[in-house]
Amino acid sequence: PEKGSLSIVVLGASGDLAKKKTFPALFNLYKQGFLLPDEVCIFGYARSKLTDDDLRNRLRSYLVPGKDAFPELLEKVSKFLLLIKYTSGSYDSEDSFYNLDKEISVHESLKNSTEGSSRRLFYLALPPSVYPSVCKMIKTCCMNKSDLGGWTRIVVEKPFGKDLASAEQLSAQIGKLFEEPQIYRIDHYLGKELVQNMLVLRFANRFFMPQWNRDNIANVQIVFREDFGTEGRGGYFDEYGIIRDIIQNHLLQVFCLIAMEKPVSLKPEHIRDEKVKVLQSVLPIKDDEVVLGQYEGYRDDPTVPKNSNTPTFATVILRVDNERWEGVPFILKAGKALNSRKADIRIQFKDVSGDIFKSKNQGRNEFVIRLQPSEAIYMKLTVKQPGLEMQTVQSELDLSYRQRYQGTTIPEAYERLILDTIRGDQQHFVRRDELKASWEIFTPVLHRIEKGEFKSTPYKRGTRGPAEADKLLLEKAGYVQTQGYIWIPPTL
Ligand code: BG6
Repeated sequence: PEKGSLSIVVLGASGDLAKKKTFPALFNLYKQGFLLPDEVCIFGYARSKLTDDDLRNRLRSYLVPGKDAFPELLEKVSKFLLLIKYTSGSYDSEDSFYNLDKEISVHESLKNSTEGSSRRLFYLALPPSVYPSVCKMIKTCCMNKSDLGGWTRIVVEKPFGKDLASAEQLSAQIGKLFEEPQIYRIDHYLGKELVQNMLVLRFANRFFMPQWNRDNIANVQIVFREDFGTEGRGGYFDEYGIIRDIIQNHLLQVFCLIAMEKPVSLKPEHIRDEKVKVLQSVLPIKDDEVVLGQYEGYRDDPTVPKNSNTPTFATVILRVDNERWEGVPFILKAGKALNSRKADIRIQFKDVSGDIFKSKNQGRNEFVIRLQPSEAIYMKLTVKQPGLEMQTVQSELDLSYRQRYQGTTIPEAYERLILDTIRGDQQHFVRRDELKASWEIFTPVLHRIEKGEFKSTPYKRGTRGPAEADKLLLEKAGYVQTQGYIWIPPTL
């Protein structure tokens, strides 16, 4: 690994994302020895006038879970907080950014100025409206000092635009200032353990390789559910809606990993090349393969317009026009304020031909990857019911992580991804052409929703969402629901 001073600048340091995700992830990396005190300085930057201690005190409660944390943890938190400095300024003022540059340079000169020791990571925990000006300021005032080597990288978060045109405009603005290898577009689903497992499952197992195609797979579902609504962020959400918030990014990334061809190697560019190809093979979405919903009470939020048609639920069928997947529906479904919180991938296989057991009604083979909560991979299959009779029954082969990997802590998505940005590994980040291809898929539907041509059906909080969505699944996507079988995660 590279050595020398490392400056991590969190812009928008007093915002929600920084407090809830960025700083806790940095703390976890520090705890595990990935951020070394004799190399690292973390700079918080925001508009409000705060002292270093003000910021540290604000962050403390996000880093210490509960009141009765172990003394060792409290001590670690205190040591970590000492690595943080605060600088205030606006997002378009050269003076403030030159000031930030000065602070970073002081830190760099205090540390061993060895070759490569001007490593500067800028994390934009900010609304995208200020990305162009902040990037311009960084480029003008804060680039790494070339005589010290190292690098300058920027990390950005979705939403990257609202449709194809605005996303391309944003990409062009940032692209004028930074090269693609300097830009890390985060999609935090790519940092989840079981999402990272997808390539291994698919390409390291002989079991799956010959099965993974239209001859064997009947349909694929990628489902995200939350059992809470948009409370507290209705204003943001209403402008974007569930397709932009979850489906066009998080679920589509998962889709790519399931549907793409085998990459030439594990090099980030090889993997991302395959993702782009499969995105480009997606056919235009059909009107009758979309169901939108909005939960009752969504518009009670004072920041949401009373006549809002913004979907808080959507089921969309994607169809891939290639040799592997022609005719196989990929159902992407996401909803807020539903009856449970979970995310999973469900791959349903076709019926057995010439079924001598007449077991069809009992259900099909399914391969399920539970992303969260309680990470698990299980395979639903038909076995003989134990006993004297020759009867079949549904059961499962179950790899539940909590049970199988006892004592292993699964890292937080942001923790992994930030470490990748420091190491310079772009595998789990979204490339510019990938982003463009993803907007190409969803932009026509999004525009029509805005024009009011698609209506969101109301649904009650705490339910499965609009009934039409289940109908779509059964009628258009040929999903066959197993009766009388429920997978119960093992308890420890
Ligand atoms: C974010 C969305 O990207 O992902 C939120 O903006 C959503 O609306 C969140 O709640 C879900 O992330 P996770 O990791 O809790 O599934």
